[in-house]
Amino acid sequence: MRPTYPVTELLGDGIGPELSRAVHALAESLPIRLEFRPVDISVPNRRARKSAIYDEAVESIEATKVALKHPTATVDESPNQVLRRRLDLSVIHRPVYTIPGVPTNFRRELDVDIVRIATGGTYDDPGRMIGEDGAVSLRIVERRPVREAARYAFGLARKTGKRVTTGSKYTIQKATDGLFESVAKEVAGQFPEVPHNAELFDALLGKIIMAPEKFQIVLVLNEYGDFLSDMACGLAGSLGIGASANLAFDASAVVRVALYDAAHGTAPDIAGKGLANPTAIFLAVSMMLYQLGEVAVGQAVKNATLDLLRQGVRTRDLGGRESTETFTEAVAAEVARRLSGAEAPAAP
Ligand code: NAI
Repeated sequence: MRPTYPVTELLGDGIGPELSRAVHALAESLPIRLEFRPVDISVPNRRARKSAIYDEAVESIEATKVALKHPTATVDESPNQVLRRRLDLSVIHRPVYTIPGVPTNFRRELDVDIVRIATGGTYDDPGRMIGEDGAVSLRIVERRPVREAARYAFGLARKTGKRVTTGSKYTIQKATDGLFESVAKEVAGQFPEVPHNAELFDALLGKIIMAPEKFQIVLVLNEYGDFLSDMACGLAGSLGIGASANLAFDASAVVRVALYDAAHGTAPDIAGKGLANPTAIFLAVSMMLYQLGEVAVGQAVKNATLDLLRQGVRTRDLGGRESTETFTEAVAAEVARRLSGAEAPAAP
């Protein structure tokens, strides 16, 4: 019997249904079984069921521990924000790499895992005016989410043989960024085999552009992660092709719940036309498989997708001729072939 993993699938708007069909077709080609438990959080259902639909989503995700989310339109509220708050998703893992076939102004190869503390920093306090001419806001750094993010980043480094770089302004923001670096250092001590260095965040931005190969896993506070993700995506030319993991942890800083999603939105302009590119949701599925411990299967999904793009098998948004369905069939066949132990084809 194939090993079975229950997964909550959050159904969305626009191209969401097409992406869901693509994911199911891909899942059929895997040597494991993903048992999808759908929860429909599309706009009509959110309007009809209000907070009850989020209760159902949260209950299902707490039970399955992993979830795959399709894009949702932000109309009345942002489902991403609601889920982040209700599930205590305190860390975002965003791999960013140059993808063959995605045009970019950057001539170097980039392959960096950004691990971002998704709470606190300057983002939890909108601030207040002091009289007419001044304003102030609080910058919050807490030991717990920093420890969770650091444990995750160093654990990832241990599994993949990579280096961790922390980026902050510890020389100026002595209390907040100093606390961040000291917690990271404490966690680094538990992973002695993982190389670790600390960089000042401003210098780090320049260094990533000049020598991207030196940076593998970068651990940062909330706002720095926000800036760094967009810069890295801009360099990779792939603002809409990436995927992320949104993570919640238990008391011993072990991943309790993980929600995977694509970076792009609902693409209402192409919805229902068979034009949606499923690359990002496939990369989200690949990350989910790693978390489930199915590393070889996760690798096959990622590598098959990227190799097909490299060979010119692409949807129209990337200048190719494939539809959502034909691209999905090609990826599914390639994944099945790789996992059956067949030889990889010679590069064209
Ligand atoms: P968008 O990412 O949906 O679309 C931007 C452009 O990229 C469009 O031309 C679209 O056709 C194209 N595109 C996006 N994904 C594509 C794919 N998989 N294949 C081929 N082309 C693709 O961003 P936009 O237009 O700003 O937002 C539309 C809706 O999506 C809004 O309601 C927004 O709130 C929502 N949104 C949801 C997100 C989520 O659920 N994670 C993230 C971003 C936006």
